[in-house]
Amino acid sequence: MSTATGKTALVTGASRGIGRATAQALANAGAQVLVHYGSSAAEANSLVNEIRALGGQGEALQADLGDPDGAAMLSDQVRMIVRDRLDILVANAGITKAAAFEDHTIEEFDRLFATNVRGPFFVVQQLLTLLGEGSSVILVSSLAARAVPGNPGQAGVPSFPAYAATKGALDTLVKHWAFALGPRGIRVNAVAPGVIATDMSSFTRTEGGRDLTLSMQALKRIGEPSDVADVIAFLASEKSRWITGVILPVDGGSKL
Ligand SMILES: NC(=O)c1ccc[n+]([C@@H]2O[C@H](COP(=O)([O-])OP(=O)(O)OC[C@H]3O[C@@H](n4cnc5c(N)ncnc54)[C@H](OP(=O)(O)O)[C@@H]3O)[C@@H](O)[C@H]2O)c1
Repeated sequence: MSTATGKTALVTGASRGIGRATAQALANAGAQVLVHYGSSAAEANSLVNEIRALGGQGEALQADLGDPDGAAMLSDQVRMIVRDRLDILVANAGITKAAAFEDHTIEEFDRLFATNVRGPFFVVQQLLTLLGEGSSVILVSSLAARAVPGNPGQAGVPSFPAYAATKGALDTLVKHWAFALGPRGIRVNAVAPGVIATDMSSFTRTEGGRDLTLSMQALKRIGEPSDVADVIAFLASEKSRWITGVILPVDGGSKL
């Protein structure tokens, strides 16, 4: 399926997890993929080599999106490569913090909002001039923005209130950006994954974490990065041309 042949795509946080699977899916669909990473250079470079070995086009780009200058650093690099047109922008890079409400610190709270909200906000802003008719922006939100995952009241089960709030902010931005950018032909959507087996959700590797996850879901297996990546590839494609301003749950029917 070559739904993205001739298109340019940026995926932030593409070195690992959901971003990596998304970069692979977009490259398989024919796009030239800019593989952004923060600190995992080896993983990003191995993905670029993998894409090229399959006949695709990929480049690795580094920027710390938790840093105030990160978005500008990244967009300068993107501009050098794609010149004047970005068709697909996937704002996926993010961090989490699991802790009781009482134990959250101001430093952790600020780091979460800097990386998960300020980062994507200014990446989209800085790249706006490269986006145009037919471009698709996809944010990676979370189930946590609309429901409380797990059972945080239970002893030993952490909660994610500040992380969840960062994803709530992204859900708000989807609506505002979709409305503001729609007249230019730019679509803006989000996916809201449930628990996905990545480093971020490493608790799925324990029996307790796995049981807790399955107890919330209608579908009884742990979600994989490719489950999300395929939906992002759909939202990036022409097949979703009449969809904008949507936050699409990709969670195996979690917390129904
Ligand atoms: N896994 C889940 O259960 C789940 C559920 C709902 C939503 N999500 C969301 O999905 C997205 C991807 O999560 P994941 O599970 O794939 O996580 P992951 O495996 O931990 O990967 C996170 C990615 O984000 C990048 N990143 C983190 N902080 C960064 C920074 N300051 N600057 C640049 N890049 C940074 C990492 O790059 P480096 O390693 O190169 O630094 C990495 O590529 C996140 O937005 C997350 O909130 C995940």
